[in-house]
Amino acid sequence: MPVLMEGLSRLEYRGYDSAGIALLRGKKLDVFKRCGRVAQLQTILPKRSAAVCGIGHTRWATHGEPSDENAHPHLDNAGEIALVHNGIIENAAEIKTFLEQLGHVFQSETDSEVLTVLIAHELREAGDHDLTGAVRRSLLRVAGTYGIAVLGKDFPDEMVVARNGSPVIIGIGDRETFVASDATALVPYTRQVIYLEDGEVARLTPSTHEVQDLQAVVADKPASTIDIEDMLVDLGGHEHFTRKEIFEQPEALLRVLRGRVDQRFNTAHFGGLNLDARQMMGFHRIKLLGCGSALISATIGASMIERLARLPADAESAAEFRYRNPIIDQTTLYIAVSQSGETHDTLAAVQEIQRKGGHVLGVVNVVGSSIARQCGAGIYLHAGPEIAVVSTKTFTNTLAALALFALYIGRMRDVAPAEGGRIIEALQALPAQVQQLIDRADEFEVVGRQYAEYDRAYFVGRCEGYGLAQEGALKLKEISYIHADAYPASELKHGPLALIDARTPTFVIIPDDDLQSKNLSTISEIRARKGPVIAIGQAATLGTEVDTYVQVPRSHPLLDPILLLIPLQFIAYHAAIARGCDVDKPRNLAKSVTVE
Ligand code: G6P
Repeated sequence: MPVLMEGLSRLEYRGYDSAGIALLRGKKLDVFKRCGRVAQLQTILPKRSAAVCGIGHTRWATHGEPSDENAHPHLDNAGEIALVHNGIIENAAEIKTFLEQLGHVFQSETDSEVLTVLIAHELREAGDHDLTGAVRRSLLRVAGTYGIAVLGKDFPDEMVVARNGSPVIIGIGDRETFVASDATALVPYTRQVIYLEDGEVARLTPSTHEVQDLQAVVADKPASTIDIEDMLVDLGGHEHFTRKEIFEQPEALLRVLRGRVDQRFNTAHFGGLNLDARQMMGFHRIKLLGCGSALISATIGASMIERLARLPADAESAAEFRYRNPIIDQTTLYIAVSQSGETHDTLAAVQEIQRKGGHVLGVVNVVGSSIARQCGAGIYLHAGPEIAVVSTKTFTNTLAALALFALYIGRMRDVAPAEGGRIIEALQALPAQVQQLIDRADEFEVVGRQYAEYDRAYFVGRCEGYGLAQEGALKLKEISYIHADAYPASELKHGPLALIDARTPTFVIIPDDDLQSKNLSTISEIRARKGPVIAIGQAATLGTEVDTYVQVPRSHPLLDPILLLIPLQFIAYHAAIARGCDVDKPRNLAKSVTVE
């Protein structure tokens, strides 16, 4: 029980609507589950338990609201089978009707309970002696995604796990076997792991593991060693992980840059691209894919690449991309961006590209994650574990990694050595410049608190500044629940201006570049409608009046977005605190979305 609870605490950022555990003791399955956080589950647990086998789950609702009934683990009617499930069973309604006709009754609204009852049904049909077989036969009837762990009351010391689209990692200990959806939960116990692939089922006992496919063909899967530090979930003296991770950015930047700067040729180099210069020169376009903040960082990264390397580059939502039957072109290099490396839509987009013969690299933070393994090549972000749901240091490191990549491609093409040298100098100065901004946290806190009392806000910018506006708006709405929208500054007059008034502040990203005068005109348009303006810029003075001006240091134009971003992170964070929000675990969200 303590192992399960420790694991759930480590994985809680993945989902936190409800939590539960099932313990197998003698011939009895005891289930404890509760709507709310892991800490609330703790309150209903027995003081101690003799059980040595169990499963646990934290939920991010898909089918059915967060409630005690809908929490996992699920039991079938007879209490024979307990199951936890990540993913979505798409034909659950159909299977449920079939099972209801046989007299099964359902306690919850979840697709996961349907799978539980189906496994119990298959087990009984086949004479109750082969749990793995029952799981396999059930999964052959199921359409959708799953990472599951199953216990059977008559199967002491046995657990069956299976994967299709949602991660399952087996940890091999000393006469102990562990399973988790993320290596974070395994590292305190073992470094020896087996990553299940889609379509694989495994039968586990404390000292054995047998992996097979859905047709029962046994696979020989050697264990690999995970090379990650014990990612102790520790606030390190900060009040929230969000704040801690904002503060960790200078260090994280040092890590993403380490070993990747080539001062001899004024370029960047990467150990894991697995592409030589000739192959790289064969690509005529770059397409980046991601979801959420990863998509926004990909959008800014695409601008960096296009601007510097003069190679057409754009970014698209991975989910949109995979469903629009995209044309995959051999001369396009695809790049999947994902902090967790587990986002289902991004993984599916990677698989779609590969199926059509396209070349895809991963820009991923979590080492050994599904997207990293599926791509087999790419750039690790080395930001360290990010626990808060909203990304901060991984966003910054993605921008830095893509800037390095832009430099690398740029230097193969048009960028002169001297310009490469200037970018390298700017990259090396970046961690200290970010630190200078972090040292001004109190100043940004005042701004965040000041604007916390508004109900809505706009964020505008041009080019990369528009990308930053999107990230600023997303951060603010995610953690403070203030309605925030982002627009390209030029679009304001085509609609949103109708909503500008004294109660609608606009955050304007205004770097000291060729478009500064255009952005100043946008500011005038807003102020003429009495809208409060908060400008995040670089010039010593803007030459026009604004309500709040935040000046950030200059870098190379390629890297300016990183510095302009930092105040936006602080502003969202402090607005959320002022509004009493749960910053690290915003309502309805999850860190890693392994379902569609
Ligand atoms: C979720 C998280 C976001 C994140 C997005 C993509 O929506 O709440 O913070 O940006 O997933 O996650 P990834 O792990 O692929 O970067």
